[in-house]
Amino acid sequence: MFKAELSEKLAAQALAVLKLNDRGQFTAPSLGFYPHQVLWDSCFIAIGRSYDNIERAQQEITHLLSGQWQNGMVPHIIFSGKNNWRSSVSPLSPEAVATSGVSQPPMLAEAIVRVGERLSADGRRIWYQKTFPSLLAYHQWLYRERDPDGSGLVVQVHPWETGLDDTPPCMLALNDQPLARWLRLLKSSRLAKLGNYVRFDRKFVSLDERGSNIETLTLYDLLRRIRRQRYDSAAILRAPRFAIQDLTYNCILIRANKRLAEIAKSLGEKLPEELIQQTQSTIKALDGLWDKTTGQYYSRDFRTKKLLCQPSFATFLPLYTGCITHEQAERLVHLMQDQHAFGAKYPLPSVPLNSPWFNAKRYWQGPTWININWFIINGLEQYGFTEQAQTLRQSTLELVAHSGCREYFDPITGEGAGVDNFSWTAALTLDLLASKN
Ligand code: GLC
Repeated sequence: MFKAELSEKLAAQALAVLKLNDRGQFTAPSLGFYPHQVLWDSCFIAIGRSYDNIERAQQEITHLLSGQWQNGMVPHIIFSGKNNWRSSVSPLSPEAVATSGVSQPPMLAEAIVRVGERLSADGRRIWYQKTFPSLLAYHQWLYRERDPDGSGLVVQVHPWETGLDDTPPCMLALNDQPLARWLRLLKSSRLAKLGNYVRFDRKFVSLDERGSNIETLTLYDLLRRIRRQRYDSAAILRAPRFAIQDLTYNCILIRANKRLAEIAKSLGEKLPEELIQQTQSTIKALDGLWDKTTGQYYSRDFRTKKLLCQPSFATFLPLYTGCITHEQAERLVHLMQDQHAFGAKYPLPSVPLNSPWFNAKRYWQGPTWININWFIINGLEQYGFTEQAQTLRQSTLELVAHSGCREYFDPITGEGAGVDNFSWTAALTLDLLASKN
């Protein structure tokens, strides 16, 4: 168990990181490399800030909503300066704010409720009244524009939209399509290596902790492509270069739908019947992502309708939904403890140790991430695996105490990697400390 002085010291360090990254109206994920407001980062940050400054936590969310599009989409980045997304190509983007043209895992409802829980009854009511219309429009956008075949599973049109950039399932789907001509030429000319000298991220992280130059350029190429389609979901999904029904994203959506329903209930509002049906269809569709042969959940490629059978931490996210059976939850807990797969010394590796993709320090291809542990701890608790949840909470806090608020961590040595002073690591550390008893 974490000693009281240690907890206090860690909480003070975490709060200092959030204050360091505070840009006034919002908190940057990390100064320098990630200077803008980012959707799911800000949701985690609001949860963390709700402990010391509830107004600041609310503002984090209010500022996010200032970037909402007319169709209801909450974009994944609200820029504080120039950028290459040029959101104004879409008539639906907000006039006064520059944003990206895609979204990110729908953490908003969870963050609104978690902030709401720390307000007085009156304050909560005002807070819910203020945020509910935007939240409802966001969830309606998700189903209207991103579930074109009514499967219940919403589609992501860029790996950045999953929040898990180079996670193996995304890479698998991306690499399934031929590279753009200019990228093929670049790759074969070996000029690609020269990219190492011009990459912006090299100032902040070691490049072997990130995707390759060709992978990074492929992501930018995809951005250019969807920008040409004015970020219009229907146009993009007509012949998508990339479209997946990401497991993590859809699990977060199931949980968010429950939170949306809670907010509506407490306001005495009725959710539209169509939306209620749609939210139920997502729960049902989760079963379709289970693969009996390997005993794991996977994301699905929207184009081929095939599961992307590359194991990753995402298989545990159904725990967070609270919608799977106890028996399924038990199987996942068993898998979590397998020493050859996820049972690393500093769990939970984002890719199992025995996967050919595993790389202890490479972004979403091996390292342990604090937000992922946070989801899983929450899921374990929902299913009564209190001891396992407590053990994971403890090892997560130890990682941060030893290596600082890094972006991610080596699951074998516990060393920090990626950028330093990373806001969501700090924010969720505060939440894990607050809920540890
Ligand atoms: C990286 C992560 C993404 C996060 C962003 C800002 O791109 O993959 O999930 O939102 O950084 O922290």
